[in-house]
Amino acid sequence: MTETNKVRIAILGLGTVGGGVYQLFQAQADTLMAKTGLDAEIAAILVRDANKPREGIDPSLLTESFEDILHDETIDIIVEVMGGIEPARTYITEALKAGKNVVTANKDLMAAHGGELLDLAQEVGRDLLFEASVAGGIPIIRPMKQCLAGNRITEVMGIVNGTTNYILTKMDEEGMEFSDALAKATELGYAEADPTADIEGYDAGRKLAILASIAFHSRVTFSDVHTEGISRITAADIRYVRDMGCIIKLVATARETEKGIEASVQPMLLPVHHPLASVKDVFNAVFVHGDAVGDTMFYGRGAGRFPTASACMGDIIDVMRNIRFYCTGRIGCGCYRHVPIQPMEETIQRYFLRMQVVDRPGVLASIASVMGKYGVSIKQVVQKPTEEGRAELVLITDQVQEKDFLKALEKFRSMTNMIQEISSVIRVYE
Ligand code: NAP
Ligand code: HSE
Repeated sequence: MTETNKVRIAILGLGTVGGGVYQLFQAQADTLMAKTGLDAEIAAILVRDANKPREGIDPSLLTESFEDILHDETIDIIVEVMGGIEPARTYITEALKAGKNVVTANKDLMAAHGGELLDLAQEVGRDLLFEASVAGGIPIIRPMKQCLAGNRITEVMGIVNGTTNYILTKMDEEGMEFSDALAKATELGYAEADPTADIEGYDAGRKLAILASIAFHSRVTFSDVHTEGISRITAADIRYVRDMGCIIKLVATARETEKGIEASVQPMLLPVHHPLASVKDVFNAVFVHGDAVGDTMFYGRGAGRFPTASACMGDIIDVMRNIRFYCTGRIGCGCYRHVPIQPMEETIQRYFLRMQVVDRPGVLASIASVMGKYGVSIKQVVQKPTEEGRAELVLITDQVQEKDFLKALEKFRSMTNMIQEISSVIRVYE
């Protein structure tokens, strides 16, 4: 802090979010004294090229040296919005060790190394806040850590990736195929040049790891989350699913059962009346079930310059309040126990299965017999003739252990004289 008690802030990275934080901070600066009892100023912004002209930014704030920021003892808060693991991990570690508080939007980092960084923050008595790392502008980390602290949370489930939700919405509402919907998402700037992390579920998986760690007070990392993407979903799947009263969404879900924590991101059939079924386009929503509160849902914009800056700014204001009352580090890591992770094959699921079969007597009976052998019960079945001598068989199973369903599927793959193609296998929310 300056001698006049002004909190000084450094922003690391001046991209979409960093630029938004800078602009929002300027717009809010005159309210900070009233809100926190302290004034604040942006002291420095770390960029890769300080000579690059940047509209609306005071060039004297730009620096290419993290060391200068680290060794400036008047800087109290570091806002890390560069993204990626390194050098963000090293910079945050060094900043905490130097006694600075940290605000970050970095889900990749928090999902992989959140435990070690939060432990360090606790050790040095500083804040490490990361509201923007999950679902952008939607308040979800603070509500779970604080407002819902009196609950035992048993399930957290959400649509936490806007790009894939936009693609699935277009496929559902306009009958587009995946590749056309992805092209549209790219054209509108929702999907990145390399959309792999979004469409393969990795982005949502990182957010889920963070949410599950908070929900169950046990560290869950990205590598603990089973991830499946949406690139194999077809317009035909969506049509059948609609006829069965459901919709397909990329669902991030974590549950604590008696055996441990189940955490997965996957395309799933949701009943059309489920609250998450009505979350469309790039919007996100997170659904939390607590034993005392029951069901709660948080909805809004999960990404974008100002929604994400809104979450960072809320964290900055929280840190300022803690600085004022000498209580930084007040709410640290909540992981006080270790709950094992359940392997996916041990989980109980229901499945939607679409297959191309030979249309002759006995085929359906053979398929049913394999399912019976492995304890897979059929809940709903539709068969439609396609071309001469072929039919499309679509069925939804009852609950079954994943490993038993996989055995039945393996057997189907060997029945090439009857089953010509297994077109889709999608889990059904229960
Ligand atoms: P971005 O637009 O790519 O901005 C990142 C900025 O950081 C770039 O300007 C980049 O500079 C700079 N940078 C990277 N490494 C640096 C280094 N070593 N030294 C100095 N500057 C460096 O990314 P973003 O969308 O703002 O995302 C930032 C973070 O927020 C990420 O962790 C992301 O996951 C998270 N987030 C983003 C959103 C969103 O809607 N965008 C939502 C929630 C969370 P160059 O331009 O020179 O490469
Ligand atoms: N790529 C993410 C999304 C936004 O599509 O939701 C950043 O978290």
